[in-house]
Amino acid sequence: MADSPSSDAEGPRHVALIMDGNGRWAKARGLPRALGHRAGVEALKRTVQAAPELGLTCLTVFGFSTENWRRPAAEVSELMGLVRNYVESDLGRLEREGVRLRIPGRREGLPDDIRAIVERAEARTAHNDRFLLQVAFNYGSRADIVDAARRFALSGEDPAILTEDRFERLLSTSDAPPVDLVVRTSGERRLSNFLMWEAAYAELLFQDILWPDYGPDSLAKAVEAFRTRERRFGGLEPTRQAG
Ligand code: IPE
Ligand code: IPE
Ligand code: MG
Repeated sequence: MADSPSSDAEGPRHVALIMDGNGRWAKARGLPRALGHRAGVEALKRTVQAAPELGLTCLTVFGFSTENWRRPAAEVSELMGLVRNYVESDLGRLEREGVRLRIPGRREGLPDDIRAIVERAEARTAHNDRFLLQVAFNYGSRADIVDAARRFALSGEDPAILTEDRFERLLSTSDAPPVDLVVRTSGERRLSNFLMWEAAYAELLFQDILWPDYGPDSLAKAVEAFRTRERRFGGLEPTRQAG
């Protein structure tokens, strides 16, 4: 990863990516869906590599949703295997490059070995602060909000003094800066239960490219598109930050 973000003042700092279209990419080539997912991991590596140079300090990607368990068992196990391989092959490099890895989502329901791998990856990179990479896995916004509500109930704190800020800190994405931009690839135009709290004031961008074809150029275009947007956060004047 190259150093020195040049124009981070303009943002976006935090981009969230719904990496969609692996299956269609494979189908168009007469390949099994699994190969689409594998090509998708390569696209993710290229994209992560380019992010700091574009001024980003955080990238959140949707790796596996709480609804993706509805897919055939073989595809689910392929996706589990990919997160295992990704962490095993890239953890050392991410650690050296100052990337902190976080895996938002539910730990319950994950196979024990995957759970151990993600916990180790988070622990090994916890001290890094150059870039935050969040790979949402077994993640769904509704589940995450319910889990946060449970944590609050168990904390014994007084509900009368609960604030949005306090609640936000109970979500599994609480280490990240505000989401500036949500991008979905593949032409689909929906959130599919991704970051519904966090993206309340994010800009939305739909890029007509299948995820395995994504990379630095597509991310640069997304950043450029973001910089043409005017954000008002409910007020009348263009503003950089909420509040
Ligand atoms: C996105 O690609 C990857 C995951 C959901 C894990 P898809 O597998 O959804 O690809 P399409 O939408 O079927 O093309
Ligand atoms: C969202 O994509 C989940 C991930 C990218 C991991 P899906 O392909 O699962 O979403 P739907 O089912 O088309 O809404
Ligand atoms: Mg899809």
